[in-house]
Amino acid sequence: MRWVCTANRGFANLAMEELRRMFPEAAFQQLAAGEVFAADIPSERHEVLESISGKEPIFLRHIQPADRALPVAGNVDDLSALSDTIRYVGYTFDGKRTAVHVRRSEGTRFPYSVSDTKAVLDAVLAEIGGEPAMQEPEVILSVYAAAGELLVGWGTPREMLSDWPGGAVRFQREEGQISRAKFKLLEAERTFGLRLSAFREALDVGAAPGGWTSLLLERGLAVTAVDPAELHPSLTDHPKLTYLKKNAGDVRFERGTFDLLVCDMSWSPMLMVKLIMELRDALQPGATAVITVKLMHRKPLQTIRDVVDKLAGAFELRKAKQLFHNRDEITLYLTKRA
Ligand SMILES: C[S@@+](CC[C@H](N)C(=O)[O-])C[C@H]1O[C@@H](n2cnc3c(N)ncnc32)[C@H](O)[C@@H]1O
Repeated sequence: MRWVCTANRGFANLAMEELRRMFPEAAFQQLAAGEVFAADIPSERHEVLESISGKEPIFLRHIQPADRALPVAGNVDDLSALSDTIRYVGYTFDGKRTAVHVRRSEGTRFPYSVSDTKAVLDAVLAEIGGEPAMQEPEVILSVYAAAGELLVGWGTPREMLSDWPGGAVRFQREEGQISRAKFKLLEAERTFGLRLSAFREALDVGAAPGGWTSLLLERGLAVTAVDPAELHPSLTDHPKLTYLKKNAGDVRFERGTFDLLVCDMSWSPMLMVKLIMELRDALQPGATAVITVKLMHRKPLQTIRDVVDKLAGAFELRKAKQLFHNRDEITLYLTKRA
């Protein structure tokens, strides 16, 4: 069976490597350079989905089954064939909140825009008893327009690893937003199912200019921000902020002060680990940690393994994921051991 797989640009090779380790007989074909590829995996649909949800790959951002492949004619027949295909499997969407995701590869001969295709498919869904939905869908109908064929599939957001088309999570930029980095923590909150407002005392290591700190303050937490660089002036008078303009190696706290640690230092992974391990006693048992790991070396999978191994003395890994808003890095979600 064929699958349409997506990773962050430049990281498709790593997503392939992870899939190859899981399914040694998988064969790959590039659909959009460095980002989208087809995987032919000689296993049952449910086996693939179970393996992936059992051990979610770090670099695979999105996976869509190609339940049907329709040749592209380059004219109105394409929309008719697509509509008929969906009518034929109408039972899949009957009574279900269904989101339609359409993506086009650059060189596709499919002549219709994303919004036109989506409008047609929403109408077909309404006709066959599906309930077109943008938010919190039960099922996603996903169409990828490759060069010469439409790859059409359906599944739950969990099966596809995201409820955004291709896993491309978009947040609205706010007026006065301090940094784009804020999106990383917003995405981590969603992806890892964290409720940031449930924490009380956060330590933000490598906090400047303050995007993450601002989000934590918005969520009502008291925040201790550590960074030798300047925090944005809009934050510094906040009553729940303590700003230590220092290197993280030069600060110490009372045992068990914090229930949340966030760290976005974009620094050498091993030096970052050393600093975090030195600060571990400042965290309560069971405290949550969200940490970005810069991928500076040639062997990112090995770097990640080394980082997780070194942190394992104090932290249990919940999930490692390259988020859509991560660039040359991934994000770890951990909890402090008792
Ligand atoms: C990518 S920026 C952090 C962005 C921040 N998360 C935000 O939302 O605005 C990385 C920061 O880590 C800080 N940093 C690097 N090494 C550090 C260290 N040893 N101790 C504390 N901060 C450090 C840098 O000064 C820089 O401000």
